[in-house]
Amino acid sequence: MARSAVVSFTLLLLCCAAAGSSFDDANPIKMVSDGLRDLEAQVLQVVGQTRHALSFARFAHRHGKMYETVEEMKLRFGIFSENLEFIRSTNKKGLSYKLGLNKFADWTWEEFKTHRLGAAQNCSATLKGNHKLTDVVLPELKDWREEGVVTPVKDQGQCGSCWTFSTTGSLEAAYAQAFGKYISLSEQQLVDCAGAFNNFGCNGGLPSQAFEYIKYNGGIETEEAYPYTGKDGVCKFSAENVAVRVVDSVNITLGAEDELKHAVGLVRPVSVAFEVVNSFRFYKKGVYTSDNCGSSPMDVNHAVVAVGYGVEDGVPYWLIKNSWGAEWGDDGYFKMELGKNMCGVATCASYPVLV
Ligand SMILES: *[C@@H]1O[C@H](CO)[C@@H](O)[C@H](O)[C@H]1NC(C)=O
Ligand SMILES: *[C@@H]1O[C@H](CO)[C@@H](O)[C@H](O)[C@H]1NC(C)=O
Repeated sequence: MARSAVVSFTLLLLCCAAAGSSFDDANPIKMVSDGLRDLEAQVLQVVGQTRHALSFARFAHRHGKMYETVEEMKLRFGIFSENLEFIRSTNKKGLSYKLGLNKFADWTWEEFKTHRLGAAQNCSATLKGNHKLTDVVLPELKDWREEGVVTPVKDQGQCGSCWTFSTTGSLEAAYAQAFGKYISLSEQQLVDCAGAFNNFGCNGGLPSQAFEYIKYNGGIETEEAYPYTGKDGVCKFSAENVAVRVVDSVNITLGAEDELKHAVGLVRPVSVAFEVVNSFRFYKKGVYTSDNCGSSPMDVNHAVVAVGYGVEDGVPYWLIKNSWGAEWGDDGYFKMELGKNMCGVATCASYPVLV
């Protein structure tokens, strides 16, 4: 009796969770918001009239979450509640940044690390960089998006392939700068083919090593020619499809934020890496800073693209493009405190040269 009740409930739950995307077509008479009301009722039935139950229902609806069993929903609700408490208590501290609920809120930190972050990579090869400082005065503020060279934010999905998105991000910007048009380049080629250069597909890698791979390989294909699957696969590179070649790459000296600022201010967007710690995954806006992230070459676990810098409420920041989708953070971007090599943002930075 109890068992069959659970089964029928589960079917309803799956249907409701899918409502966010398909309810409209299936039930033209009902409003989409009915999906939310049904889901709220189901959540209340499973977790009871507890604190956070309605927030959880709204969260699950908004992100199209599907929980296949009652146990799974209870488990996810527990994790969600802890994360929500964490977000609220952090936001009460009056820090230079704010956190917010996002699609990661029903994951534990351990799950997040497994699904989203590559293993920490040793990037000491950049101990002595080859970026040349000049006497040219840097712009006070920089935002390469305003110059039309930054391509849209992508989503790496459940694969530790951040380093490939960091690589294509700075390459796409370099291409737009050189040729005056946008291009979308293949992360999957790097996931599948760049292993000989100390990269590990969905288990991590480094943009500097990906640039080396592209340089020696003879180029990289477009997203369209070699589409993203978000899984490790067999290399299917075809030289006929090369869209962009890398002539050279430039490494920023480990920790040298002055070099990084010079490069971002005067040359182009730069691939950077840093250490993601728990609070970062819920970043919403403002200038991120942390007391517990590290800055050594062995700490960094995520690669992204620095596309500018500025000052907000007196705090200098790097403007950075992430690869967790455009709904994450500040339209897919974040700001990281500048001037302290915060979280190792200048520990492992490099940019490509195309022409
Ligand atoms: C990191 O790389 C450097 C230079 O290649 C090497 O000297 C060092 O031993 C490596 N560290 C670890 C922990 O692998
Ligand atoms: C930049 O770093 C990569 C590895 O991270 C290394 O293979 C490459 O030789 C370096 N480039 C220069 C010009 O030092």
